[in-house]
Amino acid sequence: MVCLGNICRSPLAEGIMQKLSNDKKLNWKVDSAGTGGWHVGESPHVGSINIAKKHGIDISKQKARQFNKRDFDVFDEIYVMDEENYKDIIRLTTNEIHAKKVKYLLSAANMMEQNVPDPYYTNKFEDTYNLIFSACKTIISSKTALN
Ligand code: 4NP
Repeated sequence: MVCLGNICRSPLAEGIMQKLSNDKKLNWKVDSAGTGGWHVGESPHVGSINIAKKHGIDISKQKARQFNKRDFDVFDEIYVMDEENYKDIIRLTTNEIHAKKVKYLLSAANMMEQNVPDPYYTNKFEDTYNLIFSACKTIISSKTALN
């Protein structure tokens, strides 16, 4: 799960997808990272921590990190929150196999919108949570339906 700062959107996406996969007893390793490095080592934004907590998910122990090229080999799927993230991550790819792993979270869930609006600027953490939760639910259902 990738966003810009790894303190607002992608920590929520990590927490939600990890919880949903754990609930389904899947052995998924979900992680998140930012394209930028300004917040490396920081905890998630208090707005993200609180909205996750309200829904029974603890993301308070997460620490922000910057996306690393090694992530292309470590992870099977790389979900980005918006177009800026997509361009930044695609720019780091060196082959088609890696590029194919990069997807918009919302588009992968067949949602009409492409970008998850950034609550860092809008403070709409509840809307962000609902949007990401809905996308993660759809993705996990589609993946597990295949197995
Ligand atoms: P995020 O939100 O990409 O969802 O973590 C942001 C967090 C910090 C900044 C921008 C967006 N920032 O400019 O510091």
